[in-house]
Amino acid sequence: QELHAAEMERSFIAIKPDGVQRGLIAEIISRFERKGFKLVAIKIVVPSKEFAQKHYHDLKERPFFNGLCDFLSSGPVVAMVWEGEGVIKYGRKLIGATDPQKSEPGTIRGDLAVVVGRNIIHGSDGPETANDEINLWFKPEELVSYTSNAEKWIY
Ligand code: PPS
Repeated sequence: QELHAAEMERSFIAIKPDGVQRGLIAEIISRFERKGFKLVAIKIVVPSKEFAQKHYHDLKERPFFNGLCDFLSSGPVVAMVWEGEGVIKYGRKLIGATDPQKSEPGTIRGDLAVVVGRNIIHGSDGPETANDEINLWFKPEELVSYTSNAEKWIY
């Protein structure tokens, strides 16, 4: 059955500083776009360390937490919200496993990254975190609701 924009699933996707520095913005956006997902919010920002700590708050007990927050706040990040049926789970599939050594070829990390500390992209891991992360990174008015002409060929 048809899902309307208001009820369509959304995921928070971020190109981390290594992905930006390596010139992979267009490559990464292109993979989500060609799949049939719809971009409803995008901006480029340098997050503060405090902001990075908020984003990764679930990981504060992990030994890599501090390094991960330093890394995320080390340069520009492209923050995005992508919309579409199954975008949270399938977005993770497009991204590939956390450790690029274990990501399949054909995935973003499998094709474009080598080590876990420099894995170029983040994607929400479930509906609750997607919601929290979208609210942390974006104001409601920064999310654009529109009908894409392509949608009638996708759904
Ligand atoms: S874990 O270990 O199960 O929590 O792994 P995961 O949930 O997939 O990873 C959570 C985020 O932590 C990053 N991560 C690391 N960064 C640096 N060093 C090490 N060893 C490491 N292990 C995991 C991982 O990339 C995830 O970040 P995001 O930005 O969400 O991809």
